[in-house]
Amino acid sequence: MINVAIVGATGLVGKMFLKVLEEKELPITSYTLLASKKSVGKKVIFMGKEYEVEELNEHSFDNNRFNYALFSAGKEVALKYGTIAARNGCTVIDNSSCFRMDKSVPLVVPQVNINDVYDSSSKIIANPNCSTIQAILPLKKIDEKYHLTRVIYSTYQAVSGAGKKGIDDFENNTTTTIPYKIQNNCIPQIGDFEDNGYSQEELKMINETRKILHKNNLFVNATCVRVPVLNSHAESITVETECDFKIEDIKTLLNNSDNIIVQDDTTRQIYPLNTLATGTDEVYVGRIRKDLHVPNTLSFWCVSDNIRRGAATNAVEILEEIIKKETN
Ligand SMILES: NC(=O)c1ccc[n+]([C@@H]2O[C@H](COP(=O)([O-])OP(=O)(O)OC[C@H]3O[C@@H](n4cnc5c(N)ncnc54)[C@H](OP(=O)(O)O)[C@@H]3O)[C@@H](O)[C@H]2O)c1
Repeated sequence: MINVAIVGATGLVGKMFLKVLEEKELPITSYTLLASKKSVGKKVIFMGKEYEVEELNEHSFDNNRFNYALFSAGKEVALKYGTIAARNGCTVIDNSSCFRMDKSVPLVVPQVNINDVYDSSSKIIANPNCSTIQAILPLKKIDEKYHLTRVIYSTYQAVSGAGKKGIDDFENNTTTTIPYKIQNNCIPQIGDFEDNGYSQEELKMINETRKILHKNNLFVNATCVRVPVLNSHAESITVETECDFKIEDIKTLLNNSDNIIVQDDTTRQIYPLNTLATGTDEVYVGRIRKDLHVPNTLSFWCVSDNIRRGAATNAVEILEEIIKKETN
């Protein structure tokens, strides 16, 4: 018997959990959909069956009711209820930033470091930030072969990355969660600023990249920008490597990698686009080019659906891997 709770089932990521779970058909016995008080009684059709959303509360995890919980309800909810769930024998896969940098909690992109789950006794597993997940897939491939020494990110992040409120701000040109009107603006602030001048989103990318790749000394820098795009994040990524490479070899390497699609033909204006990435699980890369002056350095453009690959799909794939391992 495998019983699963979906916490934040009414949110953007939560709804995508349901969609991805429907597609994957994992051997799960029961699902329970949880959200805040205001969603109690909402009806959701999932796997051809009607579910009623229940309120998340202190007793939701009593009596070891769930084996696994997928959380996507923000940091505060994760801290309080993720901890309660874990104490009640439930393995929690959390999408918020709450536990990501906790040394005892594995921060996992399954294609890269699923073994961190098996090497740990933590009942909580953290899902990385959306902009980190999509970058890590190509970066890991380059690192394996050429050894990364430096990564510089510039992101162009969609409003859906700020949840339902972000989409409302985009559609109504309001400032509920995005600090300025997003229509006609690129806003170089995602999250609050820290004393060192970096935004929280930038520090997430920097710290999470190092943790997932197990490279604590990797030089990483990031500039994160919210742009007036509904869905899918785009990133310009520049990397420096220890070993020299031919750009054609990098293209072949990435093209032969699972979950990565190279779209790169400048003679025909072919490169990744947000609208084409949306609704898919792949990470699209293009504009792959060698730095004209600095040795062992290349830049590329990377686009992916932040709600699917950057959140729901990654979390469901972690769950899938753990179930596979435990039932074998
Ligand atoms: N959007 C992205 O691209 C993305 C990517 C990676 C990670 N994440 C992370 O995933 C989490 C959810 O993001 P989202 O974009 O899905 O946000 P969202 O659309 O605003 O949804 C938030 C969800 O959390 C629930 N919730 C809020 N407060 C709650 C409470 N006190 N008790 C129970 N449920 C509560 C909401 O339920 P109600 O509907 O009842 O209010 C809703 O289901 C956040 O931590 C976010 O940082 C988001």
